[in-house]
Amino acid sequence: MTIHDSILETIGNTPLVRLSRLHAPGNLVAKLESTNPGGSVKERIAVAMIDQAEADGLLKPGGTIVEPTSGNTGVGLALVGAVRGYRVICTVPDKVSKEKQDLLRAYGVEVVETPTTGPDHPDSYYAAASRLAEEIDGAFQPNQYFNMSNPKAHFQSTGPEIWQQTDGAVDVYVAGVGTGGTISGAARYLKMQRPDIEIVGADPEGSIYTQGPHGDLHQYFVEGVGEDFYPETVDLDIIDRFIEVNDHESFAMCRRLAREEGVLTGGSGGMAVQAALQVAAEETDKLVVVLVPDSGRGYLSKVFNDEWLEEHGFDV
Ligand SMILES: Cc1ncc(COP(=O)(O)O)c(C=O)c1O
Repeated sequence: MTIHDSILETIGNTPLVRLSRLHAPGNLVAKLESTNPGGSVKERIAVAMIDQAEADGLLKPGGTIVEPTSGNTGVGLALVGAVRGYRVICTVPDKVSKEKQDLLRAYGVEVVETPTTGPDHPDSYYAAASRLAEEIDGAFQPNQYFNMSNPKAHFQSTGPEIWQQTDGAVDVYVAGVGTGGTISGAARYLKMQRPDIEIVGADPEGSIYTQGPHGDLHQYFVEGVGEDFYPETVDLDIIDRFIEVNDHESFAMCRRLAREEGVLTGGSGGMAVQAALQVAAEETDKLVVVLVPDSGRGYLSKVFNDEWLEEHGFDV
């Protein structure tokens, strides 16, 4: 019998799919994280961070999980909270779309809206989460930017899956970089199997990974990747190079993936594939694996909405 005890057991073992219909040179396959039950790569770290907190006694039965997140990590924590009976509170800046907030509420998450401000402002969603975590008895804040269970989850699952699914033939691993957990954890496993494997980070234009701390850091529209500080969870030494991709290129590739490959993902998936295509074209004899982090369903009012694109000056 293959009956799972809970939805959490269906996380991971996502498929590798060849991207051949984009008609680009090289040998490119995508690891599609949208087949996770909540639709993204972040469920892997949600389970890992909560497992560790339980083991360390930081989260007890009936406890509360508080995290500043509007996105995929919130959904991941929501799944864990639902299955294990924790109260989940997500603080989100008020610029976050109603769709995203509604999705969290659908899983029973309490959404606390805060004004959209900088991270150091006392009203920011980061500060609000920290305050709630202090005030509520039995509350735990996973903090994906500092929690080493984040990269560890990818060392234990994403990396081995890529190695096994390619029979060890993977030459290059490409992923977008936010907290850096996805790229660093899987890379550590893959480099242990084969030290000469190439690790490539995809980064939105304006983010610290390609601009450097004193570069031209600026806002961009692609969500979930790039940073304006270096999180503790990223291992920069294990990343061989970064490729910068701008919003326009990311959105154009995102739209092409849906129409030409039937792969629905967000702007960050488009960004990662755009970078991976560049690598595959440069190194046509190599097997390039790109991680596509989530589904496009969370972006129907943005990159998949022609009016939104036009309003923001994108012609894709
Ligand atoms: C929506 C989204 N969140 C997060 C990430 C980055 O993952 P990590 O935080 O592990 O670096 C990605 C990667 O492409 C992403 O697209």
